[in-house]
Amino acid sequence: MLPKRRRMRARSPGCADAFCSPSSALFPGVAIYLAEPRMGRSRRAFLTRLALSKGFRVLDTYRCAVPRTRCSAGARCASSEVTHVVMEQTSAEVAACWQEQAAAPPLGCPRPALLDISWFTESMAAGQPVPVENRHCLEVAEPRKEPSTPAVLMPAYACQRSTPLVHHNSSLSEALETLAEAAGFEGSEGRLLSFRRSASVLRALPWPVTVLSQLQGLPHFGEHSSNIVQELLERGVCEEVERVRSSERYQTMKLFTQIFGVGVKTADRWYRQGLRTLDELREQPQRLTRQQWAGLQHHHDLCTPVGRLDAKALQQLVEAAVGRALPGATVTLTGGFRRGKLQGHDVDFLITHPEEGREAGLLPSVMCQLQSQGLVLYHQHQRSHLGDPGHLAQQSHTMDAFERSLCILRLLQPSGAAWKAVRVDLVVAPWSQFPFALLGWTGSKLFERELRRFSRKEKGLCLNSHGLFHPEQKTCFHVASEEDIFTHLGLAYLPPEQRNA
Ligand code: CTP
Ligand code: MN
Ligand code: MN
Repeated sequence: MLPKRRRMRARSPGCADAFCSPSSALFPGVAIYLAEPRMGRSRRAFLTRLALSKGFRVLDTYRCAVPRTRCSAGARCASSEVTHVVMEQTSAEVAACWQEQAAAPPLGCPRPALLDISWFTESMAAGQPVPVENRHCLEVAEPRKEPSTPAVLMPAYACQRSTPLVHHNSSLSEALETLAEAAGFEGSEGRLLSFRRSASVLRALPWPVTVLSQLQGLPHFGEHSSNIVQELLERGVCEEVERVRSSERYQTMKLFTQIFGVGVKTADRWYRQGLRTLDELREQPQRLTRQQWAGLQHHHDLCTPVGRLDAKALQQLVEAAVGRALPGATVTLTGGFRRGKLQGHDVDFLITHPEEGREAGLLPSVMCQLQSQGLVLYHQHQRSHLGDPGHLAQQSHTMDAFERSLCILRLLQPSGAAWKAVRVDLVVAPWSQFPFALLGWTGSKLFERELRRFSRKEKGLCLNSHGLFHPEQKTCFHVASEEDIFTHLGLAYLPPEQRNA
């Protein structure tokens, strides 16, 4: 129960601030003012939205809401509305000083509580205002060293948070991604993951990072990643990132691994053998697999990003071929385009049929259809391994057992005579496994990795593109949709556009 004074104030005359709408506020006795000095405008805006979404009242200005003419305290009254002033990383002295300067309440007017951000985050987590305790109060306690905000707002696994495509920290996350990629080129899986995870946390932040202190408490921000961000914030560039980007090693490894069919191991071997350019590779076709050779033949086109219109045009081609090969079979666009990306390095499709088993043998006839139209520049068929013993127990995050065709298709351009080569992945899943296959092939890669790690570590379950399994009992959950899988894992559903981890 609120103190009587507060209850009275809740009924005080109308509000003159930008954020509050008393009719919709769930906790009318609480009016929060977020004091900005150490918070930053965008973070304040974010926290404001958060509080509003939870039904709290947030006041935009720290001032009297009662018209001057009617307020006995006159213009100097600061707190007839605000009940809780929240500050971040502010000492008691600074807070008190701020209040004196901002607007000292005249005698007789109650002072609002000066609170550490911990009261705010605990209240957000609880979904209601938590009782003010001594430890929340700036007057009596030094602020805690580690503000708890981000831990509440930013869960550790990418599958527990929304990651939109367009976000607020592109240049910071791109720098960390470069370091992740470079670590991958050196076979440092651990470093690759650390950088990738910290980059992903930045993409999930709903405000731009402008000062280093905003990283405090964020998951996956170790010393190295923090130092990179600090340098970028202070100097605009980071020496380590620039050094990597301009190095011969990074540039060559990037060039080679972009070739269709070339992974880090092959690229590294070629690099150590002194190879540096695509022309040097073309001069030595005996080194190349059929896939790599096709990749080199069409390298220029395959390096050109595929747009959404191209993806749609390809979907129509594939749908027509699938429809002719097996009426009733469906084609679903997956991969980056399903996550809302405007461009991709390829186009991914998942094919199925509502009658379990009917999908068998479908892919070869689809490829025949496409070939008869002269659309197939290259394809490599991989048979289904679904019948192989033990495939379901496989925990690999890279390979599933579905039948697939990795293709290079010829796509006519709207301009007329011209065409371009496009990488297309066609994957066939039986109906009963379709939701798992769809979830697995929608990505992003880090999202999938995190989702599987979450399942294993937090739920003791094994998730892959075929199912969700209880490892000991070897039982599998039956699902009808992606939503069902999130539900089984105790996770809030994330639509594909929020899986850009
Ligand atoms: N995938 C998979 N098994 C593979 C290849 C890919 O399960 N052998 C999954 C990955 O988890 C990935 C998704 O399929 O998230 C799409 O892979 P890919 O086309 O490589 O990545 P996109 O996210 O689509 O990125 P891009 O737009 O560059 O194609
Ligand atoms: Mn893709
Ligand atoms: Mn793909």
